[in-house]
Amino acid sequence: MSVRVEVRAESMIVALDNPPVNTIGQKTRKALLEIFVELKRKDKISRVVLTGSARAFAAGADAREFDGPPLEPHLPDVVQAIETCGKPCIAAISGPALGGGYELALACLCRIASPDALLGLPEVTLGVVPGSGGTQRLPRLIGVASAVPLISEGRMVRAKEALGLGLIDRIADDPVDCALTLDLTSLVKRQRLGEVAKPAADDAAIEAARERANKRMSGQIAPQRAIDLVALSVHANFEEALKRERETFLALRQTEQARALRHIFFAERSARLPSNLKAVSPVDIKQAVVVGGGTMGASIAYALNSAGITVAIIETDEEACERAKANVSKLFTDAINRGIVDKKKAADRQSAMSILVGYDNIPPADLAVEAAFEDMAVKKQVFTSLAATLPAHSILATNTSYLDINEIARSIPAPERVLGLHFFSPAHIMKLLEIVVAEKTGPEALATAFGLAARLRKIPVQAGVCDGFIGNRILARYREVADSIMIEGSLPWVIDEIMVDFGYPMGPYEAQDLSGLDIAHANRQRLAATRDPRRRYVAIADRMVEEGRLGKKAGVGWYRYPGGGGAVIDPLLEDLICEEAHFAKISRREFTHEEICQRLLTAMINEAFDILDDNIASKAADIDLVLVHGYGFPRWRGGLMHYAQNIGLDKILARVEQYSRQDPANWQPSPLLQRLVQEGGSLADYKA
Ligand code: NAI
Repeated sequence: MSVRVEVRAESMIVALDNPPVNTIGQKTRKALLEIFVELKRKDKISRVVLTGSARAFAAGADAREFDGPPLEPHLPDVVQAIETCGKPCIAAISGPALGGGYELALACLCRIASPDALLGLPEVTLGVVPGSGGTQRLPRLIGVASAVPLISEGRMVRAKEALGLGLIDRIADDPVDCALTLDLTSLVKRQRLGEVAKPAADDAAIEAARERANKRMSGQIAPQRAIDLVALSVHANFEEALKRERETFLALRQTEQARALRHIFFAERSARLPSNLKAVSPVDIKQAVVVGGGTMGASIAYALNSAGITVAIIETDEEACERAKANVSKLFTDAINRGIVDKKKAADRQSAMSILVGYDNIPPADLAVEAAFEDMAVKKQVFTSLAATLPAHSILATNTSYLDINEIARSIPAPERVLGLHFFSPAHIMKLLEIVVAEKTGPEALATAFGLAARLRKIPVQAGVCDGFIGNRILARYREVADSIMIEGSLPWVIDEIMVDFGYPMGPYEAQDLSGLDIAHANRQRLAATRDPRRRYVAIADRMVEEGRLGKKAGVGWYRYPGGGGAVIDPLLEDLICEEAHFAKISRREFTHEEICQRLLTAMINEAFDILDDNIASKAADIDLVLVHGYGFPRWRGGLMHYAQNIGLDKILARVEQYSRQDPANWQPSPLLQRLVQEGGSLADYKA
């Protein structure tokens, strides 16, 4: 059953019943349409309460239908039937009422929501616009200035804010009960939103929305079309505007951008505990220790603490403890300033966190996350101490960026407890968690890691052990090829601009400045002895580190940061690059923008194929999640592998082969890429 109907005296409760979140698919639309068309004949019914479950009103249209042709009955017809059913309809909302779900609520005369309700029209995040009247009814309800940012940015709001904005009429703990007892006298006098006069024009709000969309969602089509439609609401008649809205929605849902956004949306939803681990009991994590309270350790500790886990940070000496304390305090202060937590709660939470020197007073933690220096000797020493002092059931994780977790695990007696939990900076904000499985990692440790990811609301991606796992291995190749292009004839800021045009929030050089050049430098030093001497090695970044150009934190890196502000081009660097090219006997040449972009993406894609082939990632969609959530790859391009499939694997291979002919030492086509092209295989079907 997808919709339940219950009659209580003169009231009819129509409840969506499509667990878990009441997505609105064909079956639900059909059931709703029948009920509301029939209602006209039900003289004894004087009020209708449209509701969902306690968990969700309706999370939106069923995006799985978007790949095929539209299926009848269509949602706009359902919305129209609700609005014109001739009875006062009240939407009683708990949980999410989003997209098509909120459009159903807009067809009602009044909206009552529980305090936990989440409301909005987030269609642009799936590359489409609201398709069932949202772009016309919402401006009529709350005015253009409030409606346009919500629709064009796909912003969702909680009940309290929704009430302030006018998206709902009131908040009630039991919205159904409230709807059943609401006095109808004034309600029946209300106009349906479809009859309300056009909203007043607000050109400034429309312009501001365009500017914001250009800046924050640049390259994306749907936000601009959504703004067009809101702008239309002030002068087109309602039916005409609805027709335009529907046409726009149908055209957009077939676009590459919408397909890419759906791909990521579904990949996110399938990132969870592998089915073979369902029977394994994870360790219940009540207490954790974090070793190292630096950039990563402090934010990991903060994230664990936010999830209700008691955390102790372990540092080397008193001075380091003070620094760790300052790092943690800063995170709490930021949270207070951003209104995420109030002062009292922050103080309570911070006081539950302890910072200790060494292991003498270590609590009996269920989990340890090591975030000490990126140095094998340090890591081994930390793991030896953890194994000697923590209870036997505890899971021991390292946050290493590149180091061999098998080697770390071998240094302790129970390697099945060890795995990588690779957080991204800042760990309390970034959604990605690479769960790195070492050769001896046991199922309990793995199941615990997935459980922890869910608790921290992270997107977990399983990876195998290699230098850099999934993300940093691709990043290393990206940087290597960017450096090659730079020395052969380009400049950091040119390369950066090209990748920003592609859709990254920043290019590879500005990103390096932000994270600091020292970690990657240390890694290159570590690999120096085993580096293939035939491969090109561009030493500019090493020279910069030696000169103290460590990035933003040093005020200078690939750019200058006068007064700690934004990146400014440093002309001196061009001289340094030309000098290095001269030493390396490279005659610099012109690159087109397209050539640079293609070369960088092709390098990453080829590396990603090797990562799949080496079983470091188990499916292409996992690589997409890593790149989108950890490295700023544009979400609306669907991630690296989705993008590759779109371009065509044969074309990608042809490019790699061309580069390989010119420069065989630095370019070898991935055998998996070759196999898939030969067999005509698709990435979506490939599992390592
Ligand atoms: P950091 O230098 O900011 O902090 C390291 C902290 O560990 C310092 O506070 C230091 O006093 C402490 N420490 C060093 N040796 C210790 C020991 N034996 N016992 C206890 N504490 C010790 O370094 P950061 O950036 O936080 O990196 C930590 C780890 O996280 C590294 O393995 C790094 O590769 C990894 N990582 C770093 C990311 C980043 O963006 N910074 C991102 C993801 C991973």
